[in-house]
Amino acid sequence: MSATTERPAPAASRHALPDPGEQVPTISWPIVAIFCGAIAAFSFSTWAALADRLPAPATILLSATAIFVLFTVLHDAAHYSISTHRWVNVAFGRVAMLFVSPLISFKSFAFIHIEHHRNTNDGDFDPDHFVSAAPWWQLPLRAPFMDVPYLSFLVRNVKRRPRPEVLETAFLMGTTVAVIVAAAFAGHLWTLAVLYLIPARVAMFVLAWWFDWLPHHDLEDTQQENRYRATRNRVGSEWILTPLLLSQNYHLVHHLHPSIPFHRYVAAWRRNEEAYLERDAAIGTVFGQQLDTDEYREWKRLNGKLARLLPVRMPKRSSVRAAVFHPVPVASADRVTEDSVLIRFDVPDHLRDQFAFEPGQHVTVRTDLGGEGVRRNYSLCTSATSGELAIAVKHIPGGAFSTFAMEQLRAGDTLEVMTPTGSFGTPLDPLATKNYVAIVAGSGITPVLSILQTTLAIETESRFTLIYGNRDADSTMFREELDDLEARYADRFRIIHVRSRDPHHPEHLRGRIDRPKLEQWIDSDLAPDSVDEWFLCGPVEMVTDLRDLLLERGSDPDRVHVELFHGYQKPKVTDGFTPAEVAVSLRGRQHVVPLAAGDTVLESALKAGLEAPYACLGGACGTCKAKVLLGSVAMEQDFALSQADVDAGYVLTCQSHPTTPSVAVDYDV
Ligand code: FES
Repeated sequence: MSATTERPAPAASRHALPDPGEQVPTISWPIVAIFCGAIAAFSFSTWAALADRLPAPATILLSATAIFVLFTVLHDAAHYSISTHRWVNVAFGRVAMLFVSPLISFKSFAFIHIEHHRNTNDGDFDPDHFVSAAPWWQLPLRAPFMDVPYLSFLVRNVKRRPRPEVLETAFLMGTTVAVIVAAAFAGHLWTLAVLYLIPARVAMFVLAWWFDWLPHHDLEDTQQENRYRATRNRVGSEWILTPLLLSQNYHLVHHLHPSIPFHRYVAAWRRNEEAYLERDAAIGTVFGQQLDTDEYREWKRLNGKLARLLPVRMPKRSSVRAAVFHPVPVASADRVTEDSVLIRFDVPDHLRDQFAFEPGQHVTVRTDLGGEGVRRNYSLCTSATSGELAIAVKHIPGGAFSTFAMEQLRAGDTLEVMTPTGSFGTPLDPLATKNYVAIVAGSGITPVLSILQTTLAIETESRFTLIYGNRDADSTMFREELDDLEARYADRFRIIHVRSRDPHHPEHLRGRIDRPKLEQWIDSDLAPDSVDEWFLCGPVEMVTDLRDLLLERGSDPDRVHVELFHGYQKPKVTDGFTPAEVAVSLRGRQHVVPLAAGDTVLESALKAGLEAPYACLGGACGTCKAKVLLGSVAMEQDFALSQADVDAGYVLTCQSHPTTPSVAVDYDV
């Protein structure tokens, strides 16, 4: 299809539009005010520069700001929203156009801009697609020259335009070129550049970035496919963004109701917010996080009044339900201690939603070592809002993967990485005031590091105590990072180091973390009723001992969260079990597989060739979690599910044996 032809008109809008409750005013005094202010600012900077009263950078900055503001006048004029009198819009538009880009007539600009509204995000017909579809790093190359694709678009559509308008644009282009050439011959090209040419390009860069790229980038729907998702609102920090962007953080309102003057966008949004949300309006935060309507409602509730000053970025779960492997390049593999390595992954952009994670979640990595497939499960150790995916691997003597990671793995290598799973962490609330305690040993720090970083950043009133056991200071993973966090959150975060082989460590903190030590802490300042959430992560004996003690001392089991390094793989027995038929829902597909006596539900799925998710096979990681829809199963052991999971019918399929002849499980819910 040629881009030079007019796009066929849409059959009919499929999206009823709420009444914005805003009319075009007889005259918009705010627009008149910003017009006069911008003209005055531009005139002043020009006079001051010519009179040597203003240095060139200040002149450029002030004039660029004036041109930026004049674009909003031009923009509203193009939509005839300054006044109910058409000629008033044309008059303001013509003057503003001379400042924004004297290469194009106001009428031609209005035509091009309306085409953008009609065909937003359509690569063939949207003249703004040149900028809105650009990768971020090309913005400095494209945005300052936004009028070039506009002229190209005009040339391709010249037959559709009235002759006087075309002649006016041709006249303006000729005059602009003549003025530049004359200035060059007269030796004043630099003066012209400082007064106008450079400010105009600076202003155009910012305009294209804020008016085009920010609202439209990465949205796939065109205006004609879904007008509610062809552009977005950006929420958060509105006290500064709304005046700074001249309300273009509410760009969705503008596209839905182009005849509303810019200063009434917010009022229109507030009047119709629920109606827009019901239509699945596109919304992003100031940090670029995309929110669906439920997430926006939750974001709004959580941010409350804070949103005006301090927008909160919340962690998101992976967008896939049943975990799946993807090849992911290694960005770096750096030693953390003598016997551990931090592996950072370079997640491709198109997989970022799949690899979103909540604090405390983990990933399974898979690779081929000496012809043998090896898979291991590791907790993510970065803040869940950092956008960074990283694991820390502690060397286990004789361990195939940890030896490979320590000795051979390099940046640029690729590992198969499963999308994040697990539910060790707890939901966060920016308005909460909670007391968290984590007790960890060795590499048990990894999930807790993610939890505490994320928690301290989001819950600004909550406190965190970390009790951390290691051999000595040198074997302590993330020692510097923890020191930094302790310094940063000094009033809310404390670390108690327990060391088993450090003769200089305080005596009461020497040895291993065990029941007697926890009893002492409980009796001093960690009474169970003063702690909202406990996190225990480390060797199974330590974790189960401490958990038992906490429950004995009155802690609510739902508030004691446990993560084990490994589960137990019990020897297989078949006596007492019967065969069954298992219906498996996995990644949207249904399968029926036979189950032999003694096999687990997971084993029956794997034997049938299904890529069911799993990692530890010992009931510890929760990767194999699925919901029982029909029949019943008995689990051998469970160190991963919460009581809420169990009540909702979830099981660990690596531990589940059918107790009815037919069972149905769903990995996707
Ligand atoms: S695979 Fe880890 S709990 Fe089942």
